[in-house]
Amino acid sequence: MHSYELADEELEAIRPLVEEVASLHGSVEEADFLDNVSTYAQELPRRLRAFLNTFRLTEPSGVCLISGYPVDDTKVGKTPPHWRKKLDSSYTMEEEIFLNLCGALLGDAIAWSHQRDGLICQDLVPIEGHENKMIGSGSEQELVWHTEDARYSYRGDYIGLMCLRNPDAVPTTFALIDEVWLDPDQVEVLFEPRFVFRPDPSHPTDSEGKKASVLFGDPRFPYVRFDPYCMDRPETEDARSAMDCLTRAIDENLTGVALLPGECLFIDNYRAVHGRSSFKARFDGTDRWLKRINVARDLRKSRAVRKAPASRVIL
Ligand SMILES: [Fe+2]
Repeated sequence: MHSYELADEELEAIRPLVEEVASLHGSVEEADFLDNVSTYAQELPRRLRAFLNTFRLTEPSGVCLISGYPVDDTKVGKTPPHWRKKLDSSYTMEEEIFLNLCGALLGDAIAWSHQRDGLICQDLVPIEGHENKMIGSGSEQELVWHTEDARYSYRGDYIGLMCLRNPDAVPTTFALIDEVWLDPDQVEVLFEPRFVFRPDPSHPTDSEGKKASVLFGDPRFPYVRFDPYCMDRPETEDARSAMDCLTRAIDENLTGVALLPGECLFIDNYRAVHGRSSFKARFDGTDRWLKRINVARDLRKSRAVRKAPASRVIL
């Protein structure tokens, strides 16, 4: 894993920057904040900017971890019972700003209008009643690994997660496509646009399947787009077998990291699949709590489905 530990003197520079940005905006959801976040991000310490630039440009790994941002457990308050933002969400505004500043060095944060009220920075918390659902707000069901928004060509290039609380050390799981060995004949099949992707439960307004390849890019170091739970079983034997072998190989390579408070994990959505282990939620304000953003490298790709050049919401 590509990882980074914030030095004390870097934190001394980051704290006033985050505080100043917080004083200028009411929320990270504000258009004015989002229009300016990439400018503010240029004031992060140069070593951190270089680290994220290397992650983006040379693709040293499918995941990167930034550690050392201090989270005051009392200040952030109780883990909320729902992702819907409350007025008191300002208690976590500084953490949200830090995550968004880091994300802005990789691209522009995006949201889907039909997902979680179109929020850019989302709370990943267990919701009572969703225990057995295989979605972000579930808990007792493992969230099986997947490419985020695999069916959609406008999907983000990166998922950014920041941990505020994880007392039971619940792992965020991932597998890196570079570490998965595949038979060259199967790679060839997986490069063909013969696989039908269906919308996952977070896109309830869509129903149509979309044909695409599972692997793409450079056949020697392929990118991946894969979510077997939301794909049709291919009709031909060679496609079925290639899909099953890739599924098994990813299962065997699945690893994870139990994020600590303050840690930010960026997952390259082209180079890693991700999920979450199951856990027993208490629903008493002390459960696992992460913030999440989706980052696109090229906002223009989705211009046809956004209202304005700088709008972040995909309709
Ligand atoms: Fe996901």
